[in-house]
Amino acid sequence: MLKIDKISLTFNKGTVNEKKAIEGLSLDVKKGDFITIIGANGAGKSTLFNAIGGTFITDSGRIILDGEDITLTPEYKRARSIGRLFQDPMKGSAPGMTIEENLALAAGHGGWLSSVSKKDKERFREYLRPLNMGLEDRMQQPVGLLSGGQRQALTLVMATINPPKLLLLDEHTAALDPATAEKVLELTEDIVEQNSLTCLMITHNMQSALELGNRTIMMNTGRIIYDVEGEQREGLTVRDLLEKFKEAAGEELDNDRMLLGN
Ligand SMILES: Nc1ncnc2c1ncn2[C@@H]1O[C@H](COP(=O)(O)OP(=O)(O)O)[C@@H](O)[C@H]1O
Ligand SMILES: [Mg+2]
Repeated sequence: MLKIDKISLTFNKGTVNEKKAIEGLSLDVKKGDFITIIGANGAGKSTLFNAIGGTFITDSGRIILDGEDITLTPEYKRARSIGRLFQDPMKGSAPGMTIEENLALAAGHGGWLSSVSKKDKERFREYLRPLNMGLEDRMQQPVGLLSGGQRQALTLVMATINPPKLLLLDEHTAALDPATAEKVLELTEDIVEQNSLTCLMITHNMQSALELGNRTIMMNTGRIIYDVEGEQREGLTVRDLLEKFKEAAGEELDNDRMLLGN
């Protein structure tokens, strides 16, 4: 459903600051795949998402989403079929607007609450109830009052209220405390499963990378250096992943702690 064909992306081309962030990367994603992505800092993981989401146009290669060539499609158009979450819980929702208004906006009501029917309001409450965060009873409160974890959970609901063709999660739990991060990860699994979403999730936590989803890819210097799924993935440990990195990259992961996560 997503076909990435030999894409490359270089920042500051032709200057002393030239940086090849993605180099000849290809990836085939099947419908319903939930792929976790790991790799050291600067490996090109976020740039890959920016290339898929259209924040940056690639220098070469092609990106096909659901049979449509989106290589040159502007970001705002891709946003209709690609949902994204970032590390910062403050992104993705409007702090001065209420929970209900944010959901109405995400659902495509243009933020005009007056056009939101009672039925829709009830539907929004139902979306929030499974989060178990009491948000369904705070519909009229501004989002700015929520904690980081509550806000990230709400953003997740907003990004999937009209199920996107593709969901991109870029370390969306990295800024949360461990317990809250765990909860938001569980919610992520539930929402992805219930909506049969196709999802790519970047994480610095190797354990979560192995626990969630059906496939894991490891990136280094703008390339995919390891790609594992199915039975082969089931028996893998974090130690195995570190070993794979060493094999493929020819060096130890210099910052094991970062990759092992919290
Ligand atoms: N907007 C940008 N301008 C210049 N260089 C960038 C930009 N974004 C990322 N880079 C560089 O590209 C490389 C890959 O970055 P990134 O994709 O953010 O890595 P990751 O998400 O895996 O940590 C890094 O060397 C980074 O410094
Ligand atoms: Mg990143």
